[in-house]
Amino acid sequence: MANSDFQSFLDEVVMKNDIVDIISGFTTLKRSGNNMMGLCPLHNDKKSPSLSVSPDKQIFHCFGCGAGGSVIQFIEAAMNLDFMDAVKYLADRVHMEMPASRGGGDKQKQLMLSKKKERLYKINAMAARYYFDNLSKPEGRAGLEYLKKREITNQTIRKFGIGYAPPGWTSLIDHLKGEGCSEEDMFDAGLIRRRNNGTYYDAFYDGRIIFPIIDVRGNVIAFGGRIIKDGTDAPKYWNTPETLIFKKKDNLFGLNIAKNDKSGRLLLMEGYMDVVALHQGGFGNAVASLGTSFTPEQARLVKRYAPSAVLCYDNDEAGKKATMRAGDILFDAGVKVRVLTVTNGKDPDEFIKNKGSDMFSVLIERAEPLIEYKINEIREKYNLNDVDDKVDFTGEVSAVLAKVKNPAQREIYVSKIADELKISASGLMAAVRESERSIGAAEERRNEVRRTRETYRRQGTQSGGRGVWQAERFLLSLMSDAEVVTADFVKKGAVVIDVGINRVDGKIFGDVDFENVVKKAAKSGIEPADFVSDPVHQRLAELMFELSKSGKMPEAADIISRCQPEDAGAVSVILINDKSTRDKLAASSQPIEILVAAKEKRLRIKADQSGDDAELYRLFEKKKERKL
Ligand code: GTP
Ligand code: MN
Repeated sequence: MANSDFQSFLDEVVMKNDIVDIISGFTTLKRSGNNMMGLCPLHNDKKSPSLSVSPDKQIFHCFGCGAGGSVIQFIEAAMNLDFMDAVKYLADRVHMEMPASRGGGDKQKQLMLSKKKERLYKINAMAARYYFDNLSKPEGRAGLEYLKKREITNQTIRKFGIGYAPPGWTSLIDHLKGEGCSEEDMFDAGLIRRRNNGTYYDAFYDGRIIFPIIDVRGNVIAFGGRIIKDGTDAPKYWNTPETLIFKKKDNLFGLNIAKNDKSGRLLLMEGYMDVVALHQGGFGNAVASLGTSFTPEQARLVKRYAPSAVLCYDNDEAGKKATMRAGDILFDAGVKVRVLTVTNGKDPDEFIKNKGSDMFSVLIERAEPLIEYKINEIREKYNLNDVDDKVDFTGEVSAVLAKVKNPAQREIYVSKIADELKISASGLMAAVRESERSIGAAEERRNEVRRTRETYRRQGTQSGGRGVWQAERFLLSLMSDAEVVTADFVKKGAVVIDVGINRVDGKIFGDVDFENVVKKAAKSGIEPADFVSDPVHQRLAELMFELSKSGKMPEAADIISRCQPEDAGAVSVILINDKSTRDKLAASSQPIEILVAAKEKRLRIKADQSGDDAELYRLFEKKKERKL
C-alpha cells in the first residue's frame, strides 16, 4: 500500500470515529461555545475542566497537560497504546480492515515495528506455554514440588499460567528454534541473553518458577522468575528487562484478571506470590507493581479500573516506605487509598497461610484511610508528653492535613487531634492553613518559573516578540480552517456555515475562484520560513502551504494526522482556537501585515549588515508606502 493510500486510510478511520463519542467514554463532556469541555482523563484533572474538544474540527486539546491531537492521539494516550495499535483499535471499532502493508519512510518503519511487536507477543505466548507444560514433565518435578510446598493449587497454576524453567542453558532456545523462532526475536523479547562471544543462553537458566506478566488485552508481555533453590547468590527474582512490548512502569501483575472484578477496589501487593495467594483465597482484585516502586502510570491504570485501592505491602521498614510513596501517588491520581497492616506474617501471602482468607477480609475492612495511616506513623516517632515533640508532631501532622481538601473531613481530623494534644482546634486549624499556604506558595513559585521558562522558549531568541508569535498562531489557525471562501463567493449568496457548504467530499463545487488564507499570505510574500518564533509554527506552516498547493482543503484532524507525532499537542492548541471568525480572509489581513513587517525588518537588518545600501533604501521606501 502506498503512503498516500495509507494516509487516506487514516483519514477515513479518523472520520468514522467521532471524537466526542470516543472521549465521552472516558470523561463527561459539556458544551461550552463551539467546543465541549471536560475533566481531562489523561492527567489528574480534579479542579476545573481543562480538556477542550472540538466536535467540528474533530480534535482535542488539554490546557492542563498539553496533550492534544485527533482521536488517534487521544486513544494512544488514554489507552496507553502506540500509534499503530491505536489506529487498529479505532479501525476495528468501525469495522475497517487494517491495510496489509504500506511503503515509504516513517510509516514503513512503524509498520515494521508493529510486525515486530506481534512476533514478540507470539514468541512470549509460546515461551509461556513451554514453561507451563514443563510442570507436567519429569524435568519439571522440582518446580511442581516447590509450588505444592507453597500450597498453590493446580487451578491457580492454570489461572495464572504459572510455569517452570528447569536449570539448563539452552532448553528454551532449543524449543523455540524447533517452533521456527529466530534467536534475534527471542533476544528482543528478553527471553535469552547474549554472551560476549555472540552465543546465546536462556535468561532463566537456574531453575525458576515462572510468572507470565499479561497485559489487560491478554498479551504475554514479560516474565518474572523466582528461584526455587534457597541459599544461592543468585537474585530471588529475575524479571524480563524492558523490551519493545514491556514497559515496567505501565503494567500491574494480575490486572488481566483483576480488571474483571466488580468490587470497585483493587488490592495492591508487593509480590507476585502475594497476588497469586490472594486470588487463590478468593480475592480476585489483587495486583502487584512489578518489583519496582509504584509509578504514576500505574496509578492511572488503577484509576481506570477502580475508584479505590487498598495498599497491602509487606509489614517491614521497606514496605512502610513504599506504602507512603505509593499512597501519595495514588492520592494525587485521584484514587481513594486505604492502608492495610499485615499483623501475622511478613506479607499477605504468609498471613493467608497463617490465618486464612476470612481473617484477611477482616484486615481489609480494618484498613485505615491513608491520612490516618500517615498520622499514626508520625505519632510513633514522637513522645507526646514532651513539649518539643508535641510541637514537631503538630508541624508534621499539619502538613498531612493540608492535603485534605474536603472541609468537613479536615475539621473532623483537626478536632480529633486537637483533643489528643489538648490544644485548641482553632489553633491547630490555623497551623494547617499556614502549612497549606506555604505548600501552595511553593507550588505557585514552581509554576511561575515553569510559565516564564515556557514563554521564553516560545518567543525564542530569533523571534520578533510576542506580537509576532501571536500573529503567527492566529494566521495558522485561520489557514487551517477548512471553510474559507472568497468574498465573491459569499456575495453570490452563499451562506457560510460551520461545516462548509462549499465542500462535498472535500471537493469544491460551484463556479468559484477558490481563494484561501494560505494563498493570500503567499501573495504578500510570506513563506513558511517566515514563521520564525517557534519551530512548530514553521513546520505547521510548511504543511499548510504544501496542502494548499495540492488543492486540498484539509480539516483539523487531517492536519494533525499529517504533522509529526510529537507536534500533535502543540498543533492542536493552535487549531482548536474557538474564535468563530466568519470572514477568515478579512481576518487574516492583520496577522499577515504583522508578519510582513517583521520579515522586512529582518531583511533590513540583513541588508544593513551586509552593506547593501540599494536594498536597504528599497526596503525603507516600502515601509513608508505601507504606512500611507
Ligand atoms: P516470596 O518470597 O517467594 O514469597 O516472594 P514475594 O513475591 O513475597 O517477594 P518479596 O516480598 O521478597 O518481593 C516482592 C517483589 O519484589 C517480588 O514479587 C518481585 O517482584 C520483587 N523482587 C524481590 N526480590 C527481587 C530480586 O531479587 N530482583 C528483582 N528484580 N525483583 C525482586
Ligand atoms: Mn512472600
